[in-house]
This record gives sequence, C-alpha cells and structure tokens, in this order.
Amino acid sequence: MNNDIITPDREFEQKLRPSRFADFTGQDKIRERLELFVQAAKERDDVLDHVLLSGPPGLGKTTLSYILAEAMDANIKCTSGPVIDKPGDLAGLLTSLERGDVLFIDEIHRMQRSVEEYLYSAMEDFVIDIVIDQGPNARSVRLNIQPFTLIGATTRAGMLSAPMRSRFGLVNRLDYYDAATLKIILKRSAKILNVDINEDGAMEIASRSRGTPRIANNLLRRARDYAQVKADNHITRELADKALSLLDIDGDGLEEMDKRILSCIIEKFSGGPVGLNSLSVSVGEEADTIEEVYEPYLIQEGYLQRTAQGRVATTLAYRKFGLVPPSA
Ligand SMILES: Nc1ncnc2c1ncn2[C@@H]1O[C@H](COP(=O)(O)OP(=O)(O)O)[C@@H](O)[C@H]1O
Ligand SMILES: [Mg+2]
Repeated sequence: MNNDIITPDREFEQKLRPSRFADFTGQDKIRERLELFVQAAKERDDVLDHVLLSGPPGLGKTTLSYILAEAMDANIKCTSGPVIDKPGDLAGLLTSLERGDVLFIDEIHRMQRSVEEYLYSAMEDFVIDIVIDQGPNARSVRLNIQPFTLIGATTRAGMLSAPMRSRFGLVNRLDYYDAATLKIILKRSAKILNVDINEDGAMEIASRSRGTPRIANNLLRRARDYAQVKADNHITRELADKALSLLDIDGDGLEEMDKRILSCIIEKFSGGPVGLNSLSVSVGEEADTIEEVYEPYLIQEGYLQRTAQGRVATTLAYRKFGLVPPSA
C-alpha cells in the first residue's frame, strides 16, 4: 500500500506550508472572507471570532489556522480532540492564553462530550468553572480567561453537535481543488524543493492528486526522487507519468485503496449496497478512514454512492475496471 501518499509527513509539510494568505492558493471565497474578518477585527482592535474549518484531510485546514494566527499577530496553541481526556486538561490550556491568542483544536468532532460542554462558556463568555478541593469541600470557582479565538478543524462536520457548531461565528467548508489550482501549488512547491518542473509535468501531477494539495506535494516529492536519479532533476509529463505509475497512481488519480474499495464492492458485493463495516473488513482499512479519507473523493468523482442501505458502485466504477454495469 502506498499510504504515505495520504499520510502527512510533518517536516516535509512544514517546509511547503504557506504562512501567509498570499501564498494560500485556491478556496478563494473562504480566503477572501477570512482575510476580511481578520482585517475588520484588527481595525477594531478586537479578537477574531471563533472559526470552524471542515473538509477532507489535506485540503489546508491546519495551514489556514496558522495563517490566521499569523495574520492576527497572535500566538497559536495546538491540541486535538482525542487527546483532551477531561475538562481539567483544557482548563490549563485556556488559562494560559493571552488576549487574542488562537487555540487550535484539530479533530474537534472527536472531543468528549464533557470536554465539549466545558468549552461552551469559555467560547461564549470567556469564563470557565474549575472545581477545587475534593469530597464534601468540593466547590466550583468561576475564572475569567482572556478573550481568545478557537479554531476547530474537522473532517466530519456532520458529527459535530449542534450546540458546538452554533458557537462558531465563522463556519467554512473546504472543497477539493481543481487541477489548475493544484498546478499553481505544485509550481510553488517545486521552487521550494529546488526541482525543475515544466507546465505539462505540473499538470500531470495535479490531475492525479485527488484534488488534494497534501497528495499533490507528496507526489511531487516522489517525482522529484525519480527525476533526481533518472532525469537530471527535471520533471516533464513523461517523467511524472512514469513516477506515478510506479506508485500505482492511475490516470484518474485513484490510488490502490480507492481501487480496492471499488473493486471490492463490485466483485464481492455485486455492486452493493454494502454496509461500511463489511466493506472495511473486506478491504482491510478502518471504517473511519474509508469514510473520511477515501469515500468523499470517490463520491465527488461519481464512482460511489452512499445510500441508506449502504455503499453502491456506480456505472462509472464498473467502466473504470472495463466491466459492464448490471443495468446496461
Ligand atoms: N491552499 C493551499 N495552498 C498551498 N499549499 C497548501 C494549500 N492547502 C494545503 N496546502 C499544503 O498541503 C499540506 C497539507 O495541508 P494541511 O493544512 O495540513 O491540511 P489539513 O489540515 O486540512 O489536513 C500543507 O503542508 C501545505 O503544504
Ligand atoms: Mg490538519
């Protein structure tokens, strides 16, 4: 499996991660909106409203959070939903914030309900209740915290509770990027990585990147390795094609797991509908990962449908494997 195409590599990502709005390509509406709110908040000497960023992995949620903090001249503290065990863990973080700081909570949909409820008063009124003493002497004391900006990132906006969601002033859903936009991102990355890439080479990688900047950059890195060894550090369309084929990335940008999911539905489940858990066992990938990472792209590209009964392979999926769809 070439899961490393999809999994982030911290050091590599940091190198390519834009730190200013000007270098953040695509998602124009969201970028313009956020820039405007940053400017407005700064002019009023105010704290930026809480921001929710949702969308599949690798589309720029973390990147935007850092850009927002930087643009607000604020510090950013990062944590993630699953690592906050109890409300007390959050209290330490919240009391350490200075006015205007950003608290970034990744995978915010995975936060425990008790922790989530604890956040409400912090987000709304900038107060938290902490319990001091134990047993019969236990009492709760209300503490003021500095006004701050919570930025929540989630791959599953639908799993966020309504009360949580309603506490975000700025709700943004990131979408997959088109190939032309990814091409611009790739050319910037190539410059940083010191590798030559021509227009066709960049387009070839862009159109095979599942609409995702993280994947585009990862594929560029592989193509660079290939170019370094075989082609004097120069990436052309032919070279990109060879490098990506070596990685089992096909011409439509589907990778091995995408194809395994589709062929499994077609071959083992007669095209579906099949439940997520059966599919998960069959392809040997976690249900969450299938749902958050692979499915959204397969759905958007029209290979897969999600019905109440389960997942169904579309006509396009059959054609992809050179098979005749059952209805035809
Ligand atoms: N709009 C963009 N412009 C340029 N590079 C981007 C953009 N969005 C994402 N990237 C690149 O993709 C990588 C992954 O983005 P990231 O913000 O970590 O995604 P997410 O948090 O949504 O999973 C970043 O390191 C960055 O290099
Ligand atoms: Mg992230």
